[in-house]
Amino acid sequence: KKVVLAYSGGLDTSIILKWLQTTYGCEVVTFTADLGQGEELEPARKKAELLGIKPENIFIEDLREEFVRDYVFPMFRANAHYEGLYLLGTSIARPLIGKRQIEIAEELGADAVCHGATGKGNDQVRFELTYYALKPDVTVIAPWREWDLRSREQLIDFAEKHQIPIAKDKRGDAPFSVDANLLHSSSEGKVLEDPAAEVPDYVFSRTISPEEAPDTPTIITIGFERGDPVSVDGTPMSPATLLKHLNDLGRDNGIGRLDLVENRFVGMKSRGMYETPGGTILALAHRAIESVTLDRGAAHLKDEIMPKYAELIYNGFWFSPEREMLQALIDKSQELVSGTVRLKLYKGGVHVLGRESPNSLYDQDLVTFEEGAVAYDHRDAAGFIKLNALRLRTLAQRRKKLGL
Ligand code: ARG
Ligand code: SIN
Repeated sequence: KKVVLAYSGGLDTSIILKWLQTTYGCEVVTFTADLGQGEELEPARKKAELLGIKPENIFIEDLREEFVRDYVFPMFRANAHYEGLYLLGTSIARPLIGKRQIEIAEELGADAVCHGATGKGNDQVRFELTYYALKPDVTVIAPWREWDLRSREQLIDFAEKHQIPIAKDKRGDAPFSVDANLLHSSSEGKVLEDPAAEVPDYVFSRTISPEEAPDTPTIITIGFERGDPVSVDGTPMSPATLLKHLNDLGRDNGIGRLDLVENRFVGMKSRGMYETPGGTILALAHRAIESVTLDRGAAHLKDEIMPKYAELIYNGFWFSPEREMLQALIDKSQELVSGTVRLKLYKGGVHVLGRESPNSLYDQDLVTFEEGAVAYDHRDAAGFIKLNALRLRTLAQRRKKLGL
């Protein structure tokens, strides 16, 4: 029996690793992905070796470009926000991790996969829907739902008993839980659980506060091609490089902090604090380039399906026919979404200064209040308004007749 474990190298997944070996007696394969969480990965290899994993069973991969190119950017084409605000930084990473676990399992002939998400959250759903969608006969092991390690002390006892190294600061309960990647950092739980209480300063990890941001604005230009950002200030960049660059600019200008109470798929509300510096800049820039390149009908249809699309990603249905259908529609809409957007970053805010596109639908002649436009005859507007008013006038007449 072989199991592919999503392994961070941290204490919790190290405990899971040992628990798999001792409880299931199975051969453990560790998979550690660099999604831009900003941690060294080599320590995870060392730790896996120390815990008895054979070198050929240790997989460490840099997935940053794939993550941004094939997951983050397609999602940003949709302007996806869950419940109006959340840029889905954790939600969009899970399908990629799950997909690689399944690919490794297939490669090694492993029949099981395992993750370290708790039994109360969204992440267990996202991992497992991905596993089942890609390998219907897979065995899923979710230790947090299975084992009887109920408290921090029991976990620490287990770790000590099995010679798992424990960093000094990991002995006590962590003050909150963090998930990070190139798109965002998310903090939840413990000190953040009371939604009435302000997020303490020490929770923020990748943005300075808007108050501390420079007094002079930063002006940047983002270039788009077919809906995806491809350059900043004229310099072409790979997807991950570009997002990293926007993250740096966002961090220094205090951009992208969000305190949110959201509805989890499993039913409860949860309070989280998100930092999405580059994503926040990108989301507004994308809207700006769409504003000149998309026709109204196309733009409004996209906006109608957006909440549905965002909910699918939030709920873990990245690998589903309905998400793929919506993606095809969104991608089709982006064919001429190219050009540049000039932005001002200033003390926590992102402001559009201008947008330009060779494919622009914006017609200065049409919109100007000066006389002279040929395509638009003012006299047509009178009939247009009258016909649109017909229903409203009929309703008003009835109201009058019935004395309402
Ligand atoms: N609530 C967010 C989501 O469901 C983040 C979950 C993981 N975050 C964490 N700090 N453990 O996408
Ligand atoms: C977890 O439960 O592992 C994190 C929170 C979530 O998935 O919503």
